Amino acid sequence: MLLELGSKVAYTYRSNHTHQLGTLAIPADVTNKTAMAQVAEQVENKPGTIYGIVPNADITKDNFFPKLTSADWDAVMDTNLKGVYKTLKPIIPKIYDHLSGSVVCISSTSGEQGNLGQTNYAPSKAVVIGLTKSLAREAAMYGVRVNLVAPGFIETDMLNPISEKVKQRILSEIPLSRFGKPEEVAWAVPFLLSPLASSYITGTVMGVNGAHHT
Ligand SMILES: NC(=O)c1ccc[n+]([C@@H]2O[C@H](COP(=O)([O-])OP(=O)(O)OC[C@H]3O[C@@H](n4cnc5c(N)ncnc54)[C@H](O)[C@@H]3O)[C@@H](O)[C@H]2O)c1
Repeated sequence: MLLELGSKVAYTYRSNHTHQLGTLAIPADVTNKTAMAQVAEQVENKPGTIYGIVPNADITKDNFFPKLTSADWDAVMDTNLKGVYKTLKPIIPKIYDHLSGSVVCISSTSGEQGNLGQTNYAPSKAVVIGLTKSLAREAAMYGVRVNLVAPGFIETDMLNPISEKVKQRILSEIPLSRFGKPEEVAWAVPFLLSPLASSYITGTVMGVNGAHHT
C-alpha cells in the first residue's frame, strides 16, 4: 500500500518471505538488539533518510492464566513489547535528527479491554499504548508524531485457532457484525504516516474494530 502511494519502503521479515518488488527486505529478528541496530544503519544508507517506522511484529501464546507458562509469558513480552523498544531505539534518534517524521505502533483492542486467554498478549499490547502516548509528548519537540493503530478481530491467521462457537460469540459483540479485513487496518497506517493527511494528529489511538470497543 505504501509502495502504491509512492513511498520508498524497507521492511524486515523473519520467515516465509516473498519479496515485494521495489522494496528493501531485510531479514531481522526484533528480539535481537544488534540486528535491529544494523537494520537502522542499513535503511539510512539505502533507501535513505528514515521518515516513518511501523513496529508491527508480534506473536501470541494464548492460554488461561493458570496454564500459562513463564516461557510463554516471556516470549510474548520479548517480541511484542521489548521488540518494539529494540525496533524504535536505534531509529528514533535518526528521525529526530531529521526534525520530521511519523511513528505508527500497532496494538490491539485486547490491549485496551483485555481478552480471554491473553493475560500475556493484552498487557504486552497495553504497554505499547503507554509508550506511544509518552513518546508522542517527547517527539513533538522534534516535529515528530507518534500514533497507534489498535485493530479489533481481523481476518488473518490469528483467527485460525478460535473455534466456530467462540467466533459466533465474538461476532455478536461487534456492532458491524463482521471481522475486519487486513486492508482495512492497513489503510490507517499511510494515513497516520502522511504529513499531509494527519499533520496535527499525535499521541492518538486509532481503533479499527467495527465499534467492538467504544
Ligand atoms: N490479526 C488480528 O486480528 C489482530 C488483531 C489485533 C492486533 N493485531 C496486531 O496487528 C499486527 C499484525 O498482526 P497480523 O495479524 O498480521 O499477525 P501475523 O502473525 O500475520 O504477523 C506478525 C508478523 O510478525 C513476525 N514476527 C514474529 N516474531 C518476530 C520476531 N521475533 N522478529 C521479527 N518478526 C517477527 C511474524 O513472522 C509475522 O510476519 C500485530 O502487531 C498484531 O498484534 C492483529
